[in-house]
Amino acid sequence: MTILVTGGAGYIGSHTCVELLAAGYDIVVVDNLRNSDMAAVEGVKKISGKNFPFYQVDMRDADAMDDIFAKHNIGCIIHFAGHKAVGESVAIPAEYYDNNINATLGLCKAMKKHGVKNIVFSSSATVYRSDNTVPWVEEAVLGAANPYGWTKFMCEQILRDCVAAEGWSAVLLRYFNPVGAHPSGIIGENPQGIPNNLMPFIAQTAKGIREKLQIFGNDYDTPDGTGVRDYIHVVDLAIGHVKSIDYCLKHSGCEAFNLGSGQGISVLELVKTFEAENNVPVPYEFAPRRAGDLGAYYADPSKAKRLLGFATQKSLADMCKDTWRYQEGNNG
Ligand code: NAD
Ligand code: UD1
Repeated sequence: MTILVTGGAGYIGSHTCVELLAAGYDIVVVDNLRNSDMAAVEGVKKISGKNFPFYQVDMRDADAMDDIFAKHNIGCIIHFAGHKAVGESVAIPAEYYDNNINATLGLCKAMKKHGVKNIVFSSSATVYRSDNTVPWVEEAVLGAANPYGWTKFMCEQILRDCVAAEGWSAVLLRYFNPVGAHPSGIIGENPQGIPNNLMPFIAQTAKGIREKLQIFGNDYDTPDGTGVRDYIHVVDLAIGHVKSIDYCLKHSGCEAFNLGSGQGISVLELVKTFEAENNVPVPYEFAPRRAGDLGAYYADPSKAKRLLGFATQKSLADMCKDTWRYQEGNNG
């Protein structure tokens, strides 16, 4: 069985390629390298000891995608490719809608033309409206707060409609907060410029690339006043994709799943664990709340456990140690 991995040179895609190869799948990777580079593709080959075709193609190039579908007997797709920065999506919304929606629409047309019926889609907890009660369940009210979130919301709807019309099978995976790196230290998250997300900022601060972490808010209604999130190790997340392919191939229809640990972790807890596990200081100061942030949210992961047989295995300590190993070895 060959899996087409779009966005497979990216952070989550590259880790998923490793787990797909380990599970015995053949893979074909498509990425335009807009937010990644060949080091991740080479890293996947090094970790797995396996080779696979890689195409540097923009998914909006219909002819190039057509050639790839014609050349390979694709059984299932995992669609990671897309722009993902919330702030950037507010600044350049048209580019976000163009890229994320048109890549997905083009994929649906190619699937229909080439008779591919199975797709796993990278969605996000950002499709849940912020006023749902925690923990968030898959039936919670949907809605988005920014253009990035709306692209995920719309892509989910496009897939729901195509599944209904074509009799396909689609799995929509709503990730909570992916962090960490492969334990080999060979692949990991490598954000361009100043990181927006917490874990890469902590790692760069520990390394001395950033002077100080700002903790956005210490007056939330949470145990220590700082923001609470559901962090999931990227290797666990990757394994969740392998389990989702099994499910996708055995079912038809469209099903959404939360991929998270179900455990809420505060910013301070993450900082303290990072310092203790890696024996390195992370200087920080408290700063005002970040606009648009919620105090606390985390997943109800029970549907994924029940239907996919998926539960996270890795601890917060693993997330911190693996992030640091990659940071030490690869960046700055
Ligand atoms: P990433 O940016 O590391 O990976 C995405 C990859 O897609 C990149 O390598 C990029 O070059 C590629 N890409 C973008 N547009 C493309 C196009 N038109 N054609 C071909 N390639 C294209 O991001 P990631 O963190 O690995 O995220 C993967 C997916 O998961 C994204 O869809 C993202 O929205 C979603 N997601 C990520 C997070 C997170 O925190 N990382 C959380 C929820 C959902
Ligand atoms: C962000 C995205 C969300 C995406 C998620 C996954 C926004 C508004 N949301 O969510 O769409 O799905 O990433 O990775 O960007 N924090 C600090 N200091 C920092 C950075 C973050 O204190 O320098 C705090 C935040 O206030 C929050 C927590 O750390 O409480 C996690 O923040 P972050 O990593 O940015 O993720 P989210 O805001 O949950």
